[in-house]
Amino acid sequence: MTRLYAAACLIVVALSAPFWEVSAQEQPDSCVACHQNFGDDRLGKPVKEFASDIHSTRGFGCVACHGGDANDPGMGAMDRAKGYIGKPARKELAQLCGRCHSDARFMRQYNPSLRVDQVAEYYTSVHGQRLSRNGDEKVAVCVSCHPAHSIRPPSDPRSSIHPLKVAETCGRCHADAKTMEPYKIATDQLGKYRESIHWRTMSVKGDLSAPTCNDCHGNHGAAPPGMSWVGNVCGQCHTVMAEFFAQSRHAKVFAQMGVPGCATCHSNHDIKETGDAMVSLEQPGVCVGCHTNQDNGGKVALQMRAALDSLSGEYNKAHAILLQAERAGMEVSQAQFELNGAKDALVKGRAAVHTFSVEAISKETLPGLEIAKKAYARGLRVLDELEFRRKGLAVSLIIILALIVGVVLKIRQMERKKKAE
Ligand code: HEC
Ligand code: HEC
Ligand code: HEC
Ligand code: HEC
Ligand code: HEC
Ligand code: HEC
Ligand code: HEC
Ligand code: HEC
Ligand code: HEC
Repeated sequence: MTRLYAAACLIVVALSAPFWEVSAQEQPDSCVACHQNFGDDRLGKPVKEFASDIHSTRGFGCVACHGGDANDPGMGAMDRAKGYIGKPARKELAQLCGRCHSDARFMRQYNPSLRVDQVAEYYTSVHGQRLSRNGDEKVAVCVSCHPAHSIRPPSDPRSSIHPLKVAETCGRCHADAKTMEPYKIATDQLGKYRESIHWRTMSVKGDLSAPTCNDCHGNHGAAPPGMSWVGNVCGQCHTVMAEFFAQSRHAKVFAQMGVPGCATCHSNHDIKETGDAMVSLEQPGVCVGCHTNQDNGGKVALQMRAALDSLSGEYNKAHAILLQAERAGMEVSQAQFELNGAKDALVKGRAAVHTFSVEAISKETLPGLEIAKKAYARGLRVLDELEFRRKGLAVSLIIILALIVGVVLKIRQMERKKKAE
């Protein structure tokens, strides 16, 4: 009786435990044993790829996603009566992955810091909405960005979602004119992004804090935390510029005009290195389309530029003269250090461009101008001193020479005298 009861309990436990939990310990795996014999991409490749997939390294086997019986060495392993589902349908993938990834209790056993909202976020994205509402299977599903059998965490450089790989992963569809043809949206995001300062900062300088596609668009399509709209995302990293801009006249009028904030002057994918030349009513100025030298904004633009030019001009002059002095062997390190204050002022002045107020820019640039002028004056003095020393040296050389000549003459005179005696 108790035996029967125990057996019944076991069956109940086996039935109630989700099959993937059981599968984590399963050894050996008949799915692998049979499928590794196939040389083709469709049946054999999943085994090879899966060996370094994170799910494999965490002890999961094929049945975790496909179901079936990994203890059955024959074709019976793939019996639908044993939960085998075959190749999962694209529109059911979110539920398939979400079975584990949306289960906070289950995921905590493996990695307590991992988020469990991917599926929920996915359904707020254009991808998820088109899939669920329109049944459009051309949009990205979980395995479009996480290749089914080589899923790796973003920290792994081989991962399709490593920061250096994301653009390529999204670009496979978004840069492909054929895939995107029915949607009538641009396919230039990848190309433009690859030309941007953000990509260069990331790929050349190796600074992974620069954004790639998912930093602006959200990992799973929902705008990043605290952002109601992707156009506001720039301020997450460029806080100073965003605060200035938000308080400026432009923030209001741009909204009224229906043009984006930052992107109106910087674009969104093709963001280039900036410079004072942008503050101008001529190309490559960014004020040119909306202001002329006849309106107030245009006049202010010219004054803003003049304030920046005068500081950068003075800074460059001071920098050059100190460099000249240093190369001539003079001690100017203190002056060079102080000149950094002018450079900081220039950086702040450039950020203050986003206030679109001459006063705000001058507040930064005027103290910088003082510093630069002082440094230049110091450079001049040092070079004068050098000139003076050089002259002094020449004079003393002449005196020494004259003395030597005098001594030589004196000796000869004495020798002549000796001979004469
Ligand atoms: C004895 C060999 C053998 C075993 C064991 C085996 N398979 Fe297969 N599997 C095959 C063959 C052969 C096919 C191709 C069948 C076809 O195309 O109709 C296949 C096809 C598949 C497919 C593709 C189905 C599709 O619709 O494209 C999946 C997924 C799969 N197997 C998963 C598994 C899983 C999971 C297990 C373990 C529970 C497993 N297999 C065990 C031989 C095996
Ligand atoms: C993390 C979930 C997951 C695991 C684990 C997994 N697969 Fe898959 N597998 C998928 C998904 C999803 C697809 C469908 C991919 C697609 O639609 O592009 C798939 C497709 C396949 C196919 C069909 C390929 C095709 O192009 O028709 C085979 C065969 C297959 N898997 C075998 C395996 C084998 C063998 C294992 C274990 C070594 C395994 N899978 C482990 C999720 C998984
Ligand atoms: C059987 C449960 C289960 C299923 C089904 C499953 N996963 Fe996982 N997944 C896990 C576990 C557990 C980890 C390991 C978490 C860890 O240790 O970091 C993981 C890790 C991951 C990671 C790496 C996370 C990180 O940063 O460490 C990604 C990405 C991922 N899974 C995507 C998917 C996708 C896409 C699918 C569906 C095709 C899927 N998973 C199906 C359980 C599952
Ligand atoms: C459009 C591409 C895309 C789609 C579709 C997608 N992911 Fe992701 N996923 C990403 C990117 C990019 C990251 C990397 C985030 C990072 O760098 O931290 C990520 C990260 C993850 C992680 C690691 C933990 C985390 O949240 O950062 C898991 C787990 C995951 N995705 C599961 C899923 C599941 C499940 C689905 C389907 C519902 C899915 N993903 C659909 C692009 C995608
Ligand atoms: C499997 C192909 C595929 C992949 C991979 C993919 N997308 Fe998409 N994406 C689509 C399709 C199809 C649409 C629908 C186009 C539409 O709604 O106009 C779309 C829509 C979008 C939209 C909305 C565009 C609009 O209509 O305004 C954004 C934003 C987007 N994707 C970003 C991304 C990002 C970021 C990634 C990578 C992390 C990515 N996508 C990966 C196919 C893909
Ligand atoms: C620096 C932030 C940023 C990065 C990085 C970024 N985007 Fe965008 N993206 C935007 C903004 C802002 C918009 C405009 C949103 C709007 O108008 O609704 C946009 C619009 C889009 C659209 C809609 C169609 C269009 O061109 O206007 C798609 C698709 C898209 N991005 C895909 C991508 C892909 C793919 C990548 C990576 C190669 C990427 N984005 C990188 C900020 C970014
Ligand atoms: C994830 C953080 C992040 C986001 C989001 C981001 N950026 Fe950047 N941005 C950077 C980093 C890092 C650099 C590299 C240079 C630096 O340190 O200033 C950079 C550089 C720039 C530059 C060039 C600065 C220069 O020195 O000339 C501009 C302009 C810029 N970003 C504008 C934007 C705009 C506009 C957006 C939104 C569409 C945006 N950024 C979104 C991090 C970010
Ligand atoms: C009306 C045009 C305009 C708008 C709108 C605008 N910017 Fe700028 N931005 C500029 C100009 C002009 C410069 C170059 C300033 C200089 O170098 O003198 C610049 C420079 C920058 C720089 C580089 C600053 C540096 O360190 O040299 C960053 C970063 C930046 N902008 C980010 C943003 C962000 C983020 C937004 C939105 C909140 C934004 N910009 C909105 C015109 C604009
Ligand atoms: C997309 C068009 C657009 C661009 C680009 C633009 N502005 Fe404006 N700007 C406006 C509009 C519209 C107003 C509001 C005019 C009004 O109040 O009558 C304005 C107002 C101003 C004002 C306030 C003028 C006043 O009457 O108080 C200043 C200053 C200004 N802009 C400077 C600039 C500078 C500098 C640039 C380039 C870095 C620039 N703007 C780029 C459209 C633009």
